[in-house]
Amino acid sequence: MPPGSRAARLSRRAPVLGHLTIDGRPMLSESGSSTPPGTIPVTLTVNGQERQLQVAPWTTLLDLLREELDLTGTKKGCDHGQCGACTVIVDGKRINSCLALAVQKDGAKVTTIEGLSSGDLHPVQAAFVEHDAFQCGYCTPGQIMSAVALIEEGRARSREEIREHMSGNICRCGAYSNIVDAVEDVLKNKASSFREAAE
Ligand code: FES
Ligand code: FES
Repeated sequence: MPPGSRAARLSRRAPVLGHLTIDGRPMLSESGSSTPPGTIPVTLTVNGQERQLQVAPWTTLLDLLREELDLTGTKKGCDHGQCGACTVIVDGKRINSCLALAVQKDGAKVTTIEGLSSGDLHPVQAAFVEHDAFQCGYCTPGQIMSAVALIEEGRARSREEIREHMSGNICRCGAYSNIVDAVEDVLKNKASSFREAAE
């Protein structure tokens, strides 16, 4: 396959084949009998919607989300588990989606930044806006997803613990202080709403 050819360009999308075979040729039909060779069926619930896909075994969850499902809110930074830009929530836990193969997550529930709220901003999103907790915004979806999961984990009660438990989310703009302000704000509001509910 000559580099730069149409087939070569199409094969770059081969990791997940909803409508193309691995070498770029059209599928025979949309039925199960036309399953592209070398791919594996994977079912994911992404932002509440079940998605049935045929994926190549080497496809990362990050590439699946961005390249095939057009959920580009999840960012690719290092692609090596070093920056946290690709953080999503899988079955309630935050993970670096660049380090997870899609086939490993068969049957999982995945939440991306696009699925965090369905109308009003999620409290963490609102707090990031309120505290101006970003500059370029590239790390922001990952920071927010990480913060949402961290708050659910209940492991952070102080600024130091927020910093520690979000240390895998790198911000090259250095907006850390405002990010911690935002997360701390949500934690305090959550604690006070729990107190009010108990009274
Ligand atoms: S892109 Fe996944 S950790 Fe950097
Ligand atoms: S806001 Fe630019 S990298 Fe974090």
